[in-house]
Amino acid sequence: MPITMPINAHAPSPPATPRDAAAAPARLHVAELTHTFEAEDGAPVPIFSGLDFSVGSGEIVSIVGRSGAGKSTLFNLISGLLPPQSGRIAIGPRADGSPGRIAYMLQKDLLLPWRSVLENAVLGIELFRKVTSQDLERARHMLARYGLGTVADAYPHALSGGMRQRVALTRTLLVDPTLVLLDEPFSALDYETRLALEDDVMALRETNGTSVVLVTHDIEEAIAMSDRVIILGGRPARIEQALDIELTVDGTRSAITAREAPEFRTWHARIWGALRGQTSGHAGGHAGQPNGQPGPYRGLAA
Ligand SMILES: Nc1ncnc2c1ncn2[C@@H]1O[C@H](COP(=O)(O)OP(=O)(O)O)[C@@H](O)[C@H]1O
Ligand SMILES: [Mg+2]
Repeated sequence: MPITMPINAHAPSPPATPRDAAAAPARLHVAELTHTFEAEDGAPVPIFSGLDFSVGSGEIVSIVGRSGAGKSTLFNLISGLLPPQSGRIAIGPRADGSPGRIAYMLQKDLLLPWRSVLENAVLGIELFRKVTSQDLERARHMLARYGLGTVADAYPHALSGGMRQRVALTRTLLVDPTLVLLDEPFSALDYETRLALEDDVMALRETNGTSVVLVTHDIEEAIAMSDRVIILGGRPARIEQALDIELTVDGTRSAITAREAPEFRTWHARIWGALRGQTSGHAGGHAGQPNGQPGPYRGLAA
């Protein structure tokens, strides 16, 4: 379910970094974020220590890192599901100065089976205000754009996995977020559907200037979609590399044209190499790979 919240629940925005200074204020600014869980025996398990990054307006940033690195924990902190222990998380305002809003979409679509597609689509709005007839109209319009116009009044069980995930994406986007957090949203889908949804997400910044942070195990997906790929590693996790992905494509970057770019394999080899070099370094958790091997990254042989 997309979790939406009117933000500035967290601290006020810190001054813009030089990278952001030229552009609009950051949509997300994470500064000195530190988080520690407690193991069952009470021992502290440090997840992050002093994590810093920001996401600009309309930017798509992917976060990759082995299982158990803390990616979902980071999203739970950004969305406010987990209270930050130390550090700052600031959500930047919209261009008109009104507060930004986060929408969080998980891998599982979490559609309610007793609600129609249309009723599921407006659920995100319903969580914070009454649904209006304009909302319903907008929902029908967006469903139609995602090829779901004819199933708006059907129930989720009648839909394929790709269609269900599109409904979940519609529900996420109908709340008009400034920042969308996607935690492995396409990993259960077939390749063709995944490419189509990658295009849908990339189109968001063109139409709405929406910023996206994507957690994925799929290196190809990270490269194809992102302006920047952040490699998270170590224990506590830190940003090992932040790569500005430049790809030469004919026309607009799409899921397909990005993969055909001449630089694609070089980026792939570089990210794959960094991830392959990661070791779990983590004794206490149940996540991570018991044999110390890298996580289940998909992709080309490097
Ligand atoms: N509520 C919790 N209490 C204790 N440990 C947790 C909790 N949630 C996650 N963890 C641990 O924190 C680490 C990071 O988890 P997670 O953020 O889910 O990683 P990722 O999404 O990168 O796979 C893992 O070792 C996990 O077992
Ligand atoms: Mg996770």
